[in-house]
Amino acid sequence: MTLQEFKENCAQIQREYTEKITSAADVASVEELRVAALGRKGALTELLKNLKDFSIEDKKTAGPLGNALKNTLTQAIEEKTAALQTKELNEQLNRVDLDLTLPARPVPCGKRHPLSVAQKRMTDILSKLGFTWAEGPWVEDEKHNFDMLNIPKHHPARDAQDTFFAQTGSPVSMVLRTHTSNVQSRYMEKHQPPLRIMAPGRVFRNDSLDATHSPVFHQIEGLYVDKNVSMADLKRDLSAFMKGLLGDKTEIRFRPSFFPFTEPSAEVDVKCVFCAGKGCPVCKGSGWIEMLGAGVVHPNVLKNCGIDPEKYSGYAFGMGVERLAMMMMNINDIRAFYENDLRLLNQF
Ligand code: DAH
Repeated sequence: MTLQEFKENCAQIQREYTEKITSAADVASVEELRVAALGRKGALTELLKNLKDFSIEDKKTAGPLGNALKNTLTQAIEEKTAALQTKELNEQLNRVDLDLTLPARPVPCGKRHPLSVAQKRMTDILSKLGFTWAEGPWVEDEKHNFDMLNIPKHHPARDAQDTFFAQTGSPVSMVLRTHTSNVQSRYMEKHQPPLRIMAPGRVFRNDSLDATHSPVFHQIEGLYVDKNVSMADLKRDLSAFMKGLLGDKTEIRFRPSFFPFTEPSAEVDVKCVFCAGKGCPVCKGSGWIEMLGAGVVHPNVLKNCGIDPEKYSGYAFGMGVERLAMMMMNINDIRAFYENDLRLLNQF
């Protein structure tokens, strides 16, 4: 092949393929043209094979010419492909009825149960007061649920009326814990003072279900043992707790009471948040609502757990989560917490 023929061939390929690329209708046809011109057996590739037979002088002209043509065609193919891709995408978008300005469909989303919300608010406040989390088992031996807490064998709290006894096959008598106070014995037998714990959890009593009772409910136990802990510490901390939970103006009062595991013992009332103490149906006219039991830990309880009552003293309290939640959320039937009616749950 002469240099002249080579040049003519180049011109011919350029004309033919430029025209074909320009008029190609889709990406696939452009790809076919690329293979036909630049592929291993393509027209230009075949033509360039003649270069090796040219003189050095002719190569200087023919080489750059061939390369320039290769670049021109490559660029034309790339540009055409990109243009066709954009066109095809636009056509596709126009075909489907797509309105990008429509708002997204809401994603159905669960939320915390009101009892969990209430419990979290209580434990958040307690943890700010320095209480750390502790837990104990639901199925408990009588030793930790009763004996170590100074609840004697004949005490009415152990009555089959109140307590669920569990058949576990264990040689010791097991119960479903009747209060979170079992965590006191569990924790103190393992830890020496100073200690300051909160123990939220599920408790079980053989009560029938009505507006204010449930056989399964929740308590939060508090326990603080150190040197020189007194009733004054208890009152200060419970007052701070109730203010945190129900508002700065909340007032509390202690009424003397009895629990086997505390001495002295108190029941703690909160000034009725519904009538500000004036007397209303919720507080049954008294202006106060009973909230929890508390007291100074009985020396026998410390002794039973291996803590020296001569050296240390402590306070403890136990409160019902449902009762406080009902106050906080203005719910007047405890069953509402367990029926899980979404119309109620979605309000919190
Ligand atoms: N365990 C008691 C109950 O279930 C509540 C209670 C009262 C807990 C006084 C205490 C306490 O820690 O000091 O009714």
